[in-house]
Amino acid sequence: MSSVVIHRDAQAAAVAVAADIAAIIRERNRAGRAAVLGLATGSTPLPLYRELVRLHREENLSFAHVVTFNLDEYEGLPADHPQSYRHYMEQNLFSQVDIPRASTHVPDGMTGDPAAACGAFEKAIADAGGLDLQVLGIGRTGHIGFNEPPSAKDTRTRRVALDDVTRKDNSVFFGDVASVPRAALTMGVATILEARRIELLAFGSGKAGIVRRARNESPNAGCPATWLQLHPACTFHLDPASSGQA
Ligand code: GLP
Repeated sequence: MSSVVIHRDAQAAAVAVAADIAAIIRERNRAGRAAVLGLATGSTPLPLYRELVRLHREENLSFAHVVTFNLDEYEGLPADHPQSYRHYMEQNLFSQVDIPRASTHVPDGMTGDPAAACGAFEKAIADAGGLDLQVLGIGRTGHIGFNEPPSAKDTRTRRVALDDVTRKDNSVFFGDVASVPRAALTMGVATILEARRIELLAFGSGKAGIVRRARNESPNAGCPATWLQLHPACTFHLDPASSGQA
C-alpha cells in the first residue's frame, strides 16, 4: 500500500523528505554503514536538493559515507552536457556537499553497450546492499524514472525510447523538442520496487490527473506509477494542487 501526505506547499514537502533522508544517513553513519540513496532529476526535486545542501552547510549533515544511484540518463548526452542528468546532479547536489564522486552513480548515456552498462548498474546497486530510499518524481505519461508506458513490473535497468509527451514536456530545458534525445537509460520498475522506502514527489495542478491515475487505477503497465501501490513503504508527497484539492 502506498500512503499520501498532502503538504502545505512544495517547500514543506521538501523539508519533510530531506528530514527523512537525513535521519537515514545519520542512522547508517552511527551503525558504521553507508546510506544508499536513489535519486531523481527534473524540476520537482530541486527544493529537496536545496534543503539537503542547507542541512549539510548549517546542520553538519555529512554525505561522506553516502552512496547514490540516479534513476536515469539521456542517451547520447555526455556528463558535461548542460541537460545531462549527471550535470544536473553535479550542479544541484554533488558539488555542494562532501560526497566522494566515486560514490555517485548515474547511468552512462554515452555507453556503446547499453545492455552491459545497465547490467553493471544493477550489480552496483546490489553490491551496495540495495537502495535504502528512492526519491521519485512522476511524468505526465505515468513514468517513474524513464519507465514509459508500457513498462512491466519486472523490468530492470535498460535502454528505453522516450514518449513524445515526455520529449515535449522536457523540451523546455532543451529549447526545442528536436534537441531532446529519443532514448534514455533507466532503472527498471522492479529495481525501483526493491528500494526499502520510496518517496514520490509531485507538485502543481499539472500533475493532479496523473497522480489520481497512479493512485486509483489497478496496477498496470500502461501507467507505470501504479506499480507503486504494491510497495509496502511508498509515500506520495503532494501539495494541494497535485492532490486535486486546489
Ligand atoms: C523526467 C525524469 C523523471 C521525472 C519526470 C518529471 O523526465 N526522467 O525522473 O520524475 O520527468 O519531471 P518534472 O519533475 O520536471 O515534472
